[in-house]
Amino acid sequence: MTKQYDFDKIIDRHGTNALKTDVLTVRYGRSDLLPLWVADMDFETPDFIMEALRERLNHPVLGYTKNPDGYYPAIQKWLLTVHGWTIQSEWLRYIPGVVKGIGFAVNVFTKPGDRIIIQPPVYHPFHLVPRGNGREIVYNPLTLLDDGLYAMDFNQLEQTLSNGDCKLLILSNPHNPGGIVWDKATLLRLADLCDRYHTLVIADEIHADLTLYGHQYTPFATVSEAAKLNSITFGAPSKTFNIAGVVSSFAVIPNDAVRKAFYTWLSANELDEPTIFAPIATEVAYIQGYEWLQALKRYLEGTIDFVDDYLSEHNLGIKAIKPQATYLVWLDCRALKLTQADLVDLFVNKAHLALNDGAMFGPGGDGFMRMNVATPRRIIEQALENLRQVIEK
Ligand SMILES: Cc1ncc(COP(=O)(O)O)c(C=O)c1O
Repeated sequence: MTKQYDFDKIIDRHGTNALKTDVLTVRYGRSDLLPLWVADMDFETPDFIMEALRERLNHPVLGYTKNPDGYYPAIQKWLLTVHGWTIQSEWLRYIPGVVKGIGFAVNVFTKPGDRIIIQPPVYHPFHLVPRGNGREIVYNPLTLLDDGLYAMDFNQLEQTLSNGDCKLLILSNPHNPGGIVWDKATLLRLADLCDRYHTLVIADEIHADLTLYGHQYTPFATVSEAAKLNSITFGAPSKTFNIAGVVSSFAVIPNDAVRKAFYTWLSANELDEPTIFAPIATEVAYIQGYEWLQALKRYLEGTIDFVDDYLSEHNLGIKAIKPQATYLVWLDCRALKLTQADLVDLFVNKAHLALNDGAMFGPGGDGFMRMNVATPRRIIEQALENLRQVIEK
């Protein structure tokens, strides 16, 4: 019998130093807000992960540690059985976070002043990390189609690439904040162009497991030989199993020369040395987590459907772009015809909601807000109720 998981349970995270609840005043100027922003979940981390961590804590010494023997095989098996991707163990390395991985790649493969392409609106560290390291960001904005889906602008991308000198392209697959699961044809075209112009693709695939409504994620590196040999993929169990605080991510690099350059640098700086807890959590998540993940996805789909129905029914001038993956709902608020500052003021100071301001995701983000719905449905109902009351007023 399938085990029941209680995603409706409300857990107070205040006072735990949770980013989501405990920095509201710093970030939003007030603390009386429903926190629906940073991408972790308010659900319990699954019991099998908590038990494995507790078991390790039963031993009284927390000294230096090596990777458990089952760590890489667990990642390999998950990628193969869940995503159909066969990888060699030498392609794999622990990294202490995907954003940090992007920073490492920026440092290893580019010099200050080099150009890096991103496709906004997109996860904000994609511009913050390169710029913080003195690199230049080149935008290839996504096109928003009438059906609420985003498409890559390949004509403009080719023009940008052909100007030369773009060392990296950072891809969000599936896409945050639009929730798009890029199809094989799109990834193939992207791989082709980037290979032709010698632009290395950094594929951030942290949301890969969180596909919804039957959508299928395609690992970028699997679409062609060019994609395989011209990419670094970053993945993690952190979003999937709500263990972001454990800091456990990994890199996959099939190309020998790229791998040698990147992993030599990581090793030299001991950045590929895991903490005690990261491999334990990862291994047990990937061995035992499939059924829990299916239950999570059904719950998320129910909540996203609820948001979509509520917003259509009440005609609030806000449209949910239903994600094909992720628990992030990109809200199109352009019909409200507010300036971005007034839109943020409406959400924060009037409706008492802490969402991500669409503007932070770069060009194409104005008029949008990103709502994290990975919280008990009652909280989302309350949030929408707050919005309705403010807008109807
Ligand atoms: C696309 C994307 N990449 C990376 C991250 C963060 O990953 P990490 O915590 O491993 O740095 C997030 C978190 O929201 C994300 O949405």
